[in-house]
Order: sequence, then C-alpha cells, then structure tokens
Amino acid sequence: MRSLLKPLVLGCLLLMVVAVAGATASGGSSVFHVDRDFFKLYPSLMVYEKNSASFTEPETCAGCHPQQYEEWHGSLHSLAFIDPVYQGEYNKAVKAVGSGIARHCASCHTPAATVTGEVKSPGVSGLSAVAKAGVSCDICHSVSSLHHCKTPSKEPQNGSLALRPGEDGKDGPVLVKRGPHAPAEGCGGGFHDCKQTDFHPKADLCASCHQVYHYDKHYPLEATYLEWKHSPYAQKDIHCQDCHMVGHDTFVKSADSMTKPQRSEYRHYFNGANYLLYFLASEAAKKAGDKEQAARLMKQYDMAVKRLQKAAEIEISPQYREGRLAEVKVRVKNIRAGHNLPTSLTNVRQMWLELRVKDEKGRLVMTSGAIGKDGRLPADVRKFSSDGMGSDMHFAIDPWVVTAFSSHETIPPKGYKDAWFGVQVPKTSRKVTVEAVLRYRQADQKVAEALLGAVPKDIDLARDYGISKVPTLPVVDMARKQVVLPSTAN
Ligand code: HEC
Ligand code: HEC
Ligand code: HEC
Ligand code: HEC
Ligand code: HEC
Repeated sequence: MRSLLKPLVLGCLLLMVVAVAGATASGGSSVFHVDRDFFKLYPSLMVYEKNSASFTEPETCAGCHPQQYEEWHGSLHSLAFIDPVYQGEYNKAVKAVGSGIARHCASCHTPAATVTGEVKSPGVSGLSAVAKAGVSCDICHSVSSLHHCKTPSKEPQNGSLALRPGEDGKDGPVLVKRGPHAPAEGCGGGFHDCKQTDFHPKADLCASCHQVYHYDKHYPLEATYLEWKHSPYAQKDIHCQDCHMVGHDTFVKSADSMTKPQRSEYRHYFNGANYLLYFLASEAAKKAGDKEQAARLMKQYDMAVKRLQKAAEIEISPQYREGRLAEVKVRVKNIRAGHNLPTSLTNVRQMWLELRVKDEKGRLVMTSGAIGKDGRLPADVRKFSSDGMGSDMHFAIDPWVVTAFSSHETIPPKGYKDAWFGVQVPKTSRKVTVEAVLRYRQADQKVAEALLGAVPKDIDLARDYGISKVPTLPVVDMARKQVVLPSTAN
C-alpha cells in the first residue's frame, strides 16, 4: 500500500509544480487575467498618467474653495490614511504578506502618495501634506478616466481609475481639475483649468474604491458599489452623491422620494456610519489643541449616528402553534441605505438583534443577543453580517486571508430579512411584551483591541489620542420596536 501511494503523491506534487509555474507565466489565473503592462502598480489597479503636473495639498484648494474644504476636512476621506485602525491593519498586512501588498491597501487610503511612490510602508511621520490628506480634493478632481472594464473581475475594483493632475504646458505644468459642470469663463481662477466629465456626478467615480477585492484571488470583500448597482436606487438614478454628499434631511428625502437633490444642496461631508473613527479623531484634535477640528468631527459623529438611525425599520409579528404563542417573527427592513445593510466591511462591522420578552408581571421570559461581560456577542446571536473564511475554509477575518464568505446575511436595499425567535410563555400569563432592538458597532471588542494594538511605532495612542486602553466600543441602537402580544391565538 505504502509503496503504491508514494509515486502517486509524487506525481501530484509534480503536477502542482507545473501548474504553479504555468500560472505565474501567464500572470495569474485564467479566470482573473491581469494585464500587468497596463496595471503597472498591481496589485493596485490605479493608473498614474504621469507628466510634469504634480498633486496639490487640500490647504491650497481651501484658499479658493473654503466651503468644500471645511466640509471635507471633518470627513473620513480626510482621515483615510492617518486612521489608526487602518494603520494597525496595514501594519499587520505588510508583516503577514510582505511589502508586495502595501500598494494595494495604500492606493485607496492615500492614492496620490502611492502612485508617486512616496508611501511604501506603514507609518505617518515625515510624510507630505498630500500623503497625510488621504482621499483629498486632488484625488477625486484629478480622476481623468475609469478602467472598470479592464480589471480582472471586469467590474470596478481596487482603485481602477486613472489619476492625471494636469498637463505639460508650453511654460511648465498646467493643472487641470475635473468636475461635474461645464466650465464657466474664468473657472480655476488662474490656478487651474477646468474640465467636465460625465462620471463626477455618478456612482462610477466612487466605484473603484468602494469595491474592495482580495488583492490576489479577486474575491469581493467589500461590494458597496455592486450592491447599489443592482438596487432600485440605481434604476431611479439615485447615486452615492445623492445620499452621501448632502446634509441629513436631504439624504432622507433622496432615499424616501427617490428624487435628486437640488444643485445647491450638494456638500462634501461624505458622511457614513463610522462614528467611532470621528470620535477617535476628535479626541486627537482636542489633544492637539485644535478645538475647531474637534467640533467638525463631532458634527460628523452626530450625523453618522442620525444616519444609522434612519436606515432601518423593525416589524414584529406573532406565530401561534396549537393556539399558543410559539414564536415571534422580527422583520428588519433596509429602508434608506442605497446598498446592503450593513455594507462594505460586513465581516467586521456588527449589526444584530437584541430581543427581550417579558410576561404580564414584567418578569423576563427570554432574551437574545445581549453583549456578554467580555464584550462579545453570544454565539447564537441573530446578526446581519458576514463570516469570512480563508482558502482552507476556516473562519478568518484579515482581508489578505479571507477569500470567501461562509455566511452573508446583509439586507438588500428596500428589502428585508426575517429572524424567528422561539418563545415559551408561562401558562399563567395572558400576554407578553416583546421588545426588539437593532444594534450596531464597528467591530467586536477583541478585534478592535487587536487592530489598535498593532499600530506602527510612530503612532502613540496615549500621546496622540489620549487613550491608554481601548474603551468599550460604543453601540448605536438603529431601530427599536415594542409590541404586546396575547399568549393565545383567540
Ligand atoms: C471623494 C471624492 C471627492 C473629494 C475628496 C472632493 N470632491 Fe469636490 N466634488 C466631488 C463630486 C462628486 C462633486 C460633484 C457633486 C455634485 O454633483 O455637485 C464635487 C464638486 C466639487 C466642486 C464644484 C462645486 C460643488 O461644490 O458642487 C468643487 C469646487 C469641488 N468639488 C472642490 C473640492 C475641494 C476643494 C475638495 C477638497 C477640500 C474636494 N472637492 C474634495 C468629489 C470629491
Ligand atoms: C479598493 C479600495 C481599498 C483597498 C484596496 C483597501 N481598502 Fe481599506 N477601506 C476602503 C474603504 C472604502 C473603507 C471604508 C469602509 C467602511 O467604513 O464602511 C475601508 C476601510 C478600512 C478599514 C476600517 C477602518 C476603520 O476605521 O474602521 C481598515 C482597517 C482597512 N480599510 C484596512 C485596509 C487594509 C489593511 C488594506 C490592504 C490589505 C485595505 N484596507 C485595502 C477601501 C480600500
Ligand atoms: C486661485 C483660486 C483657486 C484655487 C487655488 C483652486 N481653485 Fe478650483 N476653482 C476656482 C474657481 C474660480 C472656480 C470656478 C468657480 C467655482 O466653481 O467655484 C473653480 C472651480 C473648480 C471646480 C469646479 C469644476 C466644476 O465642474 O464645476 C473644481 C472641481 C475645482 N475648482 C477643484 C479645485 C481643486 C481640487 C483645487 C486644489 C487642487 C482647486 N480647485 C484650487 C479657483 C481656484
Ligand atoms: C480613492 C478612493 C476613494 C474614492 C474615489 C472614494 N472613496 Fe469613499 N472612502 C475611501 C476610503 C479609503 C474610506 C475609508 C476611510 C477609513 O475608514 O479609514 C472611504 C470612506 C467613505 C465613507 C465613510 C464610510 C463610513 O464608514 O462612515 C463614505 C460615506 C464614502 N467614502 C463615500 C464616497 C463617495 C460618495 C464617493 C464618490 C463621490 C467616494 N466615497 C469616493 C476611498 C474612496
Ligand atoms: C439612498 C441613500 C444611499 C445611497 C444611494 C448610498 N448610500 Fe451609503 N449609506 C446610506 C445609509 C443610510 C448608510 C448608513 C447605514 C449603513 O451602514 O449601511 C450608508 C452607509 C455607507 C457606508 C458605511 C457603511 C458601514 O456600515 O461602515 C459607506 C462606505 C457607504 N454608505 C458608501 C456608499 C457608496 C459608495 C454608495 C454608492 C455606490 C452609496 N453609499 C450609496 C445611504 C445611501
């Protein structure tokens, strides 16, 4: 038996060696072909159309566009690179995979400094203002074209846009800023020329960064753009900008009436759901003595919490069996997110149902989904998120390991998901009170602690953020519903 096995095993090994060599020679798998001559910065799919024009830091744009600067400055785009949670994970990625993955992460979190080669590794010290500004003015307004169809997945992916901050002019570089409008006379005030594109008012501009694929296996880890593309919002011409580049009330109107905001309503807030990061950044601003910036960030914090509290709705209905209440059905509806709820880092973000059932005397009959003393959710929690798995089909969380989801329970736009809970009502009770709460937090407590514990040496959480220990992560209650149900059917 042994002697028979050996040559067989050897044969497989030989075949594998040949297969691996073949794959490398053709530049990846035959399913996900990568054009390495075109995507020179691979695994990033960003294209740099290099000439003598260079990138400008946002503070210079602020001189003539103070309002846009004021709004953007408190946004997550302005924090995308200095974000300590990002820096912690980026540091772990480079340690685990090697420097080959650095460009992949950094091209979305600080595009200009990545394509110019300034940022090559984790850390924030000694870098230019453009590098630290993350997704700044001169990223979006230097996007000259999109390469969504040429990517390995044939969808927008991993930064598949082209950056071109300007042109070679007769007397030196000429800056060209691209935007949604036909340029008026004098556009650019002598500092830059203006060009109109058809994609600046559309989701296409946001798509390549908000579709994050595994750097090598091309599995969609964050699929916000595709979720939107396949939603009723896309069909009604309601784009990312119509909810994320407007104030709170306008976002609610866009989502409810599916009508576009007025031209004058657009703002550069890019407000989303990550209230934790606004909070951390505002602590850092306070520590640095910048009260104005701390206030901007707390304004965004409030907006994010309010946005989360507009996203969903809960309905509760009883299920009777043999005349007695046996189960409650809790329906969670995604009423105002233009993509699945939650979206993007669905295997890290946590959204779950907490249920409390009380009898007539107010005694607890059952509970589900309460956070444990260790900060963890119970194993049987009804959550609406994903579990990642690696190529060994085991649970994994890091984006360089996750190549598939073993479960994916997010709620589609304008759609719903149901959760059932078994209830045993004491014979003595004629009715029960059921309370369901939809809760959200950025991550599991231990995951957050691990990421913040991995920040590169030049970030000191105590010195820069005034935190010596990762605090208990705040939870936002997105929606709440309470009903009284009779314990018998009639
Ligand atoms: C994430 C991409 C992004 C970033 C970052 C960004 N913008 Fe914009 N900007 C847009 C989009 C999209 C529009 C068009 C919005 C609309 O439909 O009116 C726009 C519009 C504009 C306009 C046209 C007038 C208006 O407000 O509609 C100006 C001027 C402008 N941006 C300047 C800036 C400046 C200055 C910064 C940095 C402080 C900046 N932008 C950062 C995407 C961006
Ligand atoms: C294609 C663009 C893209 C690439 C590539 C990318 N990211 Fe991100 N990343 C994003 C976007 C967009 C978000 C925001 C998602 C959200 O907040 O819902 C994000 C969020 C994050 C967060 C959460 C930050 C927080 O404060 O909660 C971490 C951590 C992170 N990225 C790390 C990485 C690492 C490490 C890599 C490389 C292995 C990477 N990213 C590659 C676009 C990208
Ligand atoms: C010297 C002043 C000045 C500076 C500096 C400046 N701009 Fe402008 N920009 C203008 C003027 C004037 C207009 C036309 C009126 C308007 O839209 O505000 C304009 C228009 C724009 C537009 C609108 C295009 C459209 O579609 O309507 C964008 C986008 C833009 N600028 C981006 C930028 C960015 C990004 C920077 C920094 C890299 C910058 N500007 C720096 C003066 C300036
Ligand atoms: C160059 C890449 C890039 C482009 C283009 C881009 N984003 Fe982002 N965006 C990011 C990254 C990276 C983050 C996350 C930063 C972090 O958490 O550290 C982010 C964060 C956000 C958030 C906050 C998410 C949260 O959890 O609160 C919103 C909302 C958002 N982007 C909307 C947009 C919209 C709308 C557009 C198009 C007009 C756009 N983005 C274009 C890279 C990009
Ligand atoms: C109809 C309004 C609407 C549209 C359109 C929309 N969003 Fe959102 N978005 C929301 C709401 C509400 C939330 C908060 C709930 C949530 O986290 O999903 C949100 C959250 C987010 C977040 C943070 C997710 C998280 O939980 O960390 C990102 C990133 C984001 N949106 C990006 C986008 C992008 C990119 C597009 C376009 C492809 C887009 N959104 C289109 C309403 C919208």
